[in-house]
Amino acid sequence: MRISLSQASDLINAGQVIAVPTETVYGLAASLKFPTAIDQIFKLKGRPTNNPLIVHAANAYQVSKYLKSQPEDFVALAKAFWPGPLTLVLPVKESDIPYQARAGLPTAAFRVPNHSLALALLEWVGPLVMPSANLSGSPSSTHYEHVEADFGTEFPVLDGGACGHGVESTILYFVDGQWQIARLGAIPAEAFEMVLGYKPEVYVNMCDSKPLCPGQLYRHYAPKTKLRLSHALQSYDGVVVGFSDRHYLGAHKVYCLGPSKQPEVVAENLYATLRQLDIDKIESVIVDMDFPEENLWVTIGERLRRAAQ
Ligand code: TXA
Ligand code: MG
Repeated sequence: MRISLSQASDLINAGQVIAVPTETVYGLAASLKFPTAIDQIFKLKGRPTNNPLIVHAANAYQVSKYLKSQPEDFVALAKAFWPGPLTLVLPVKESDIPYQARAGLPTAAFRVPNHSLALALLEWVGPLVMPSANLSGSPSSTHYEHVEADFGTEFPVLDGGACGHGVESTILYFVDGQWQIARLGAIPAEAFEMVLGYKPEVYVNMCDSKPLCPGQLYRHYAPKTKLRLSHALQSYDGVVVGFSDRHYLGAHKVYCLGPSKQPEVVAENLYATLRQLDIDKIESVIVDMDFPEENLWVTIGERLRRAAQ
């Protein structure tokens, strides 16, 4: 159900959960002032309670008030990338952030989204936790219709149209004196070099039983359709997920992610394409993985690999 900005603000202030658009994906929002609403988010998503949430704020100053200390380059990163698709995991004054939101950790994840509706709401109601607005494990929602498909037509949604980036924020974590990437996302690793003087290492390891980011432990971004990945796909006697500028000999049907030279377009279409496979009840597909392992392609490749798990 579509709601206005003022209805969104009233619902949040009444301790309800609503969906809110951001520049990455839609989020399920609850106020930090209502721990019961935060509990409700975990229930709605079917999310394990040991997987903490991202606190979204209107600006870096709001974030700084929660911090126990500021790691090196915090201000430089905030200045360069906020508002925007960067999440920073930071040490917090624990009593100021509900236990559920940080899953009991002494840190919390923060970001300032670059979306006019999300920012307006944050200005009105204060900081909000916002995990992606999808059932736990499924592809995230990048359109109003995706949220409706997961949570029903009566669920209150602030409709912001399609999300520009289409993949979640990049998460950085300060470990052993360096920022590391705890989750690949909309900002590629290369983009941090200018600010940090080094390219942060990717600490994402699917086999790691102790990842920096608890969410990385779980099956993720996956449709019901079985995905198989191919790095040298030319012809295939079945359904293909691939690129609009390539020809797949023998394919029964091709789901196009976008042009093979435009990773931004591919990222934007990624989850809608994965969701479409389920809507069309496609049993299995082969995915064309022939793209470079650099910049935003690294994030796209990681999401597809996890969706295929
Ligand atoms: O783009 C995004 O980040 C979207 C939009 C809505 O802002 N949100 C999003 O939230 O992707 P979610 O809940 O789907 O993913 C949050 C990730 C999880 O993998 C979680 O484990 C990690 O952030 N996280 C949250 N707090 C953490 C903490 N204190 N330490 C380490 N990882 C944390
Ligand atoms: Mg998520």
